[in-house]
Amino acid sequence: MQQDQLKRAVAEAALAYVEKGEILGVGTGSTANFFIDALASIKHHIPAAVASSKATAERLQRLGIEVVDLNAVDSISVYVDGADEINAQLHMIKGGGGALTREKIVAAVAKKFICIADASKQVDVLGKFPLPIEVIPMASAYIARELVKLGGKPILRQGFMTDNGNVILDTHGLSIVHPTELESILNQLTGVVTNGLFALRPANVLLVGTKEGVKTVVAS
Ligand code: A5P
Repeated sequence: MQQDQLKRAVAEAALAYVEKGEILGVGTGSTANFFIDALASIKHHIPAAVASSKATAERLQRLGIEVVDLNAVDSISVYVDGADEINAQLHMIKGGGGALTREKIVAAVAKKFICIADASKQVDVLGKFPLPIEVIPMASAYIARELVKLGGKPILRQGFMTDNGNVILDTHGLSIVHPTELESILNQLTGVVTNGLFALRPANVLLVGTKEGVKTVVAS
């Protein structure tokens, strides 16, 4: 099966987790886009959605789904999003598309995080995918030096600005054996807005697309 077919399969499987009449959180990226497209079939059950990026907001609105500001809602029942890497504990690296900050905020509010991914995203140890770190532009050189001290090789994402007006350092060479610890350490660096480790708030459920079909992994 092609990777896109696996992404479509997990996106469709995620519809079963959408709670009727509840505000839905929607992620960003190619797998999330398949999920948005699949939402068309049940959009009459969704009063509104909170989007994790401008791109997602536009795609939802094109489908006729109302997009509301996060500050206008008290809670989000379910957040559905992809990942760049995910381990057995359902810790993730996210931010390949640059939307990590808004994704992490929506994930923090959501009661349940459903990660949808094809099998290529499953890893034993996070870190082969360069860890995206969103930083305030004036701090990028300082943060880059700090990341080198931590063993990383940060590369400024060229020609890219996040929805929040910041830059991204894609950090290679980190073998992330203790994801929650590293997420906390990176959060302490002054000038870091968000790092792409989603370990302190992992996914609750992983729907993974394999040649044998969609498998469900529930966080222990
Ligand atoms: C967006 O910033 C990312 O966090 C995506 O969720 C992640 O990169 C997965 O994207 P794909 O579904 O396109 O692989």
